[in-house]
Amino acid sequence: MHYLRLSVLCALTVITTPLESAATPFPPNWNHMHTKHRWNVIPGKWESIGQPPVGTTIDFSIALKPHREHALTDTIHEVSNPNHLKYGAYLSKDQVAKLVAPHPYTLKLVETWLRHHGVSPSNVSTSHGGNWLTVTGVAVSTANELLGASYQLYRYAGTNETILRTVGYALPAALHVHVQTVAPTTYFGSPLTPRKRARGHRGRAAAALSARDGLVTPAILRSLYNSVTYQPAAMEQNRIGVTGFHGQYVSDEDLEKFMRHFRSDANDPNFLVIDINDSGYDPNKPGWEANLDIQYTQGMAWPTPHVFYSIGGLAEEFIPDSFTPVNTNEPYLGWLDTMIRQEDIPQTISTSYGGDEQTFPPDYAKSVCELFGQLGARGVSILFASGDEGVGGGDCKKNDGSGVVEFQPIFPATCPWVTSVGGTMGRPEVAAPLSSGGFSNVFKRPDYQTDAVLGFFQQLGNQHSGLYNASSRGHPDVAAQAIDFVIFLDDELKLVDGTSCSTPVVAGIISLLNDYQLSMNRPVLGFLNPWLYSTASQGFNDITSGSNPGCGTDGFSAVPGWDPVTGLGTPDFQRLLERLPIPTN
Ligand SMILES: *[C@@H]1O[C@H](CO)[C@@H](O)[C@H](O)[C@H]1NC(C)=O
Ligand SMILES: *[C@@H]1O[C@H](CO)[C@@H](O)[C@H](O)[C@H]1NC(C)=O
Ligand SMILES: *[C@@H]1O[C@H](CO)[C@@H](O)[C@H](O)[C@H]1NC(C)=O
Ligand SMILES: *[C@@H]1O[C@H](CO)[C@@H](O)[C@H](O)[C@H]1NC(C)=O
Repeated sequence: MHYLRLSVLCALTVITTPLESAATPFPPNWNHMHTKHRWNVIPGKWESIGQPPVGTTIDFSIALKPHREHALTDTIHEVSNPNHLKYGAYLSKDQVAKLVAPHPYTLKLVETWLRHHGVSPSNVSTSHGGNWLTVTGVAVSTANELLGASYQLYRYAGTNETILRTVGYALPAALHVHVQTVAPTTYFGSPLTPRKRARGHRGRAAAALSARDGLVTPAILRSLYNSVTYQPAAMEQNRIGVTGFHGQYVSDEDLEKFMRHFRSDANDPNFLVIDINDSGYDPNKPGWEANLDIQYTQGMAWPTPHVFYSIGGLAEEFIPDSFTPVNTNEPYLGWLDTMIRQEDIPQTISTSYGGDEQTFPPDYAKSVCELFGQLGARGVSILFASGDEGVGGGDCKKNDGSGVVEFQPIFPATCPWVTSVGGTMGRPEVAAPLSSGGFSNVFKRPDYQTDAVLGFFQQLGNQHSGLYNASSRGHPDVAAQAIDFVIFLDDELKLVDGTSCSTPVVAGIISLLNDYQLSMNRPVLGFLNPWLYSTASQGFNDITSGSNPGCGTDGFSAVPGWDPVTGLGTPDFQRLLERLPIPTN
């Protein structure tokens, strides 16, 4: 088995024409600052360890608002709705860039503001399409002035991980209608690890073990979800992507061993590693999450070609040096920024990471979500784990200092442009209690799920009222097995639980459906949800018992139809195959 390691260099194009040749707009009062975002308390387990050393510089990105506010949303609905004439007419990288480009005046105004603070145009570059500006090498004192901020070093309790952040920032009043968000500012993030149970099984025959203990393996899943007989045929075109954050690497030896035991028909399970921002990729230091994710996408979708994105930034193993004294990388934004620059992107991408939605500043969450929308408009299916905390982990208190208790939805799973995957257990299947699900406090309810969610509310009555936001995006969308997955790690069999398990399984099924579409010369499925909630809903096994306790409550219950525990249910590959969209044009 072999893999190829490939480094993505973020080639930033230096802005020359639009900014430098533009006439300077009449300067507004740059000192009239309005708060853009501020926490009342420092999020999570971060603690300030004071000012960074004098002379520290920072790079930050400014997301500009698009010229036409609804252009992207309208396009996603057209190309992803099986009943629309434009279904499957996905956009190219350049077409999306045009769609989301800011007004030229927005660029001029922001440039004038940066110059006012002495930032040279040579330190400002633009990401593709010009709707993201990156400002490099700015003294922290200048950044504090620009953003009405107070950048400090923060450390995550119990680790040596430090980041440079501010609990609040502001922008001149005149810029608020032009700027979506600035990062890194108030996004702290939280290291999230999958639930794991270290039941070692060294020396026991893998096949015998799984048969006796009713554990989950690719054979169980392929039979349960009805994909055993399908033979992939579009390996020249189809690809599946798996993301790895926080220093999670894949062992190719473990993968090979896993496939030999659990997919004996498979050989040479390849994957391409794309290293983004010096993740330190090292196959000799495999992680639970990374091994799990790729073992199960391979277990489901082999021989579909795989890409593993090893993403540096906010890594637990960050080691400062003199050039980069602090870890200022943003994994989601940084990863997505790299993704949208690519001409060709895997048609299906599986991500088993996330965190409480309230730990993401709303502007930041919206920017990240919009980038997922851009990938959707280009025909990419994005799957995210729904989380492992039922309706909420911890004390479920709002992090605004108010002490109010409410259910805690998980981001990016709540982004309306991703497909969120919850968990089930047992055969026949019931909801897994850990399966996170609920309702966003940031994103309103998308049209595609209105009927499904209202149907659930009718069954719910007024139970839990006040603990969740009834007007917003509900998740998960679908589910799959989440308990007792067998993986290989460091040459040993281990058991893992969590929606981290469910997500690569559903991603594998979706990738097989994309394979079929491609082999029939049809467009791939792209952003899935409009199809899932309409024609495809009967292609899922409805899960109608179990619940997801949390926040001192019994949580929501799985009921007939959609519910915020198991979504529409678990996939049946053959029934989904019969319900694939067939574009008429
Ligand atoms: C521009 O960037 C360079 C290198 O990152 C840095 O040395 C310089 O101080 C920056 N200039 C300004 C005005 O920020
Ligand atoms: C933090 O760094 C110190 C000194 O380099 C080291 O001894 C300690 O083990 C580190 N702690 C963690 C949690 O990594
Ligand atoms: C990687 O570095 C580039 C350039 O500094 C930056 O624009 C990007 O956001 C970074 N990506 C990640 C994943 O941190
Ligand atoms: C409920 O969700 C909407 C978005 O759908 C949001 O605008 C609103 O602030 C949320 N309400 C609360 C109390 O968080």
